[in-house]
Amino acid sequence: MRIYYFTATGNSLYVAKKFKDKIEDCELISIPKALKNKDFNVEDSVIGFVYPIHCGSLPIVVEDFISKLNIKDKTYIFAVGVTGGGEAKVSFSHINELLGENGNLSNYLCVKYISNYTRAGKNPTKERALKAIKLNENILDDFIEVIKGKEVKTVDYKASKRILYNGWKNLFKNKDKGFNVNDKCIGCKMCKSICPVDNIEMVNNKPIWLGKCTDCMACINICPKEAINIGNKTLKKNRYRNPFIDVKELV
Ligand SMILES: Cc1cc2nc3c(=O)[nH]c(=O)nc-3n(C[C@H](O)[C@H](O)[C@H](O)COP(=O)(O)O)c2cc1C
Ligand code: SF4
Ligand code: SF4
Repeated sequence: MRIYYFTATGNSLYVAKKFKDKIEDCELISIPKALKNKDFNVEDSVIGFVYPIHCGSLPIVVEDFISKLNIKDKTYIFAVGVTGGGEAKVSFSHINELLGENGNLSNYLCVKYISNYTRAGKNPTKERALKAIKLNENILDDFIEVIKGKEVKTVDYKASKRILYNGWKNLFKNKDKGFNVNDKCIGCKMCKSICPVDNIEMVNNKPIWLGKCTDCMACINICPKEAINIGNKTLKKNRYRNPFIDVKELV
């Protein structure tokens, strides 16, 4: 089994790792890496997508990746949308649209954690994150058994027009207005390493943004000095990383 995952702050990686722990021969593949390697041919008979929900649906890199995949007939395909407390429903019909002739989702799950959308709201405290993770442990364990048994639950509702999602992409895709770095920066390059689309370059030992952002919030949250901000609205906001995920697993 192959699980393709994308994560900015570790929640989706935490979920993907639970599958790997409980299923033999389960390989985790980072979607940004697969995109860079042009790894689009799927030979496995079971595959999964695990990703955070961005404005109701798929992160930009996940949308891009799934649209490029070649999948064999009769592959069992599942999806887990990891949210900040909202729904993931729209992402499942979105995946079916992108899969086209490659097939349809065979099963899906929404995992409701906490929001890391630092631009828009407050990140959670560690306690709140731990509580949300704990609340979902049994739901995840049950779903892993469902996947092991290849049980089928088809997407049986009407696809959404994704008005919020498309509006968000128009505003933020391939831009990065307001991203800035202050004097606390120590030039560690973690922001550059974590960016899924190589949108950060180091100049004079400090990051500059190159205008092809996906608004994923990985760079602002990973900086060990909290030296990255978006305008000045994020100055007083705390940063987030899933408490069970090490920085090294993200870069
Ligand atoms: C651009 C953006 C948009 C988001 N939109 C939503 C949303 O519509 N609904 C929601 O519940 N959470 C939303 N979130 C929060 C993430 O889905 C949530 O924090 C997720 O657990 C992060 O997973 P990760 O740590 O794997 O990146 C958004 C986050 C970002 C960065
Ligand atoms: S610049 Fe930051 S927010 Fe934009 S895609 Fe890269 S890591 Fe994500
Ligand atoms: S992660 Fe922070 S400290 Fe490290 S280079 Fe980027 S801005 Fe500077």
